Amino acid sequence: MTVEGPAPSEHKEASAAPVVEAAPAVTGVKAVESPAARLRQQEILAELGVFALQGPSFTDLLNETARLTAEGLDAEFSKVLEYLPLEKRLLVRAGVGWGEGIVGSATVGADLDSPAGFALHSGRPVISNHLKDEQRFRTPELLLQHGIRRAMNVILQGEGKPFGVLEVDSRSDGEFGERDIAFLQGAANILGMAIERQRTERQLTAALAHQKVLVEEINHRTKNSLQLVSSMLQLQARDVGDAEVGRHLAVAAGRVSAVSRLYARLAYHSGFEKIDLGAYLREVCGDMEAAQPNVAIVAQVEEVVMLAPEQAIHLGLIVNELVTNASKYAYPERSGGQIWVRVERDGKSLHLSVRDEGVGLPAQFDIDAGKGLGMRIVKSLTSQLGATLTTRHRTPGVEFVVVVPQEGDGSV
Ligand SMILES: Nc1ncnc2c1ncn2[C@@H]1O[C@H](COP(=O)(O)OP(=O)(O)OP(=O)(O)O)[C@@H](O)[C@H]1O
Ligand SMILES: [Mg+2]
Repeated sequence: MTVEGPAPSEHKEASAAPVVEAAPAVTGVKAVESPAARLRQQEILAELGVFALQGPSFTDLLNETARLTAEGLDAEFSKVLEYLPLEKRLLVRAGVGWGEGIVGSATVGADLDSPAGFALHSGRPVISNHLKDEQRFRTPELLLQHGIRRAMNVILQGEGKPFGVLEVDSRSDGEFGERDIAFLQGAANILGMAIERQRTERQLTAALAHQKVLVEEINHRTKNSLQLVSSMLQLQARDVGDAEVGRHLAVAAGRVSAVSRLYARLAYHSGFEKIDLGAYLREVCGDMEAAQPNVAIVAQVEEVVMLAPEQAIHLGLIVNELVTNASKYAYPERSGGQIWVRVERDGKSLHLSVRDEGVGLPAQFDIDAGKGLGMRIVKSLTSQLGATLTTRHRTPGVEFVVVVPQEGDGSV
């Protein structure tokens, strides 16, 4: 029967005094102190640290740790053991030297009687230089099968619960010394920190994905609610029985619809922090063209312009007002005409222009003193953007130009 040890606890001090077997009466070969080998161990720790910081996949990280620790200790075998709390066993997650079917499937006991289990539960490194004479621990079957003569185990500790154990084994004569333990513990610490970092990254990624879903859901609901309001206004516009009131209601429906469009974009497109202005304005213009079939609206946004949603909403509403005006007033005599909506970058500013080839502005038109709601909305949104609004008389028609200053990062 296997005696199971307690669940491994958090060992902040993984560098506790190692458990080294008492020297047997007749020792084999003594641990050889080779400066070159020590130097290589230092290099390996640095190499492993750099590798861990490069953000490799979890499997690569474990494999590389196993490979480098075996190399640093001139051992034929090494393994990264992951503690499985339910089974209370240690799974060989990665390793070098083992035959087919071991890595990924073989387990060893995690009880206090096994060297790896002892390291896991006590947090203390364990050296067994003479497994065949070992009195303190039961030698795991896996080591016996592979003719392992000596082994060294250290705990793999993260900030949270221990991940498992890092073990290096050898068939050869010789001894692992305390400096070897320091090397192995160094490698285990690097791996432990990298595992912990990956755990934290996974948690953050999951939290971010969850938050993204929530934001998209809110945007989706906002869009639906606004669409509902817009549809109700449109219905009322048709049923009100007064042409003038109906016209006002239809204009209001158009304004709500322009905002709703933006929330639809926010809900369906990843990267909700910025909005593709061109795609958004094309949709707004498409909606307006469908609502006012007498005009053709040409949206020209050549560059990709990414904007914060509030700024895109402002520009979308400005376009809504200016295009509505152009379609209402520019072509009274004809059955229709064209309206151009254009966005261009010019040095440190963004130029939004709405142009028609219609009758032009009436003589009494005063951009600052008009009573119409449309121009007042345009002026208010323009000033909120810190932008300027000018009119250019064209022959024929008129062009409204909004110049929005840009900040350094390319967004408005
Ligand atoms: N593209 C245009 N071509 C000719 N006249 C225009 C054009 N745009 C605006 N105007 C004139 O400017 C006036 C003011 O427009 P504004 O949008 O402020 O008010 P409105 O359209 O009359 O009312 P509301 O926008 O509240 O429905 C319009 O009544 C129209 O005479
Ligand atoms: Mg108007």
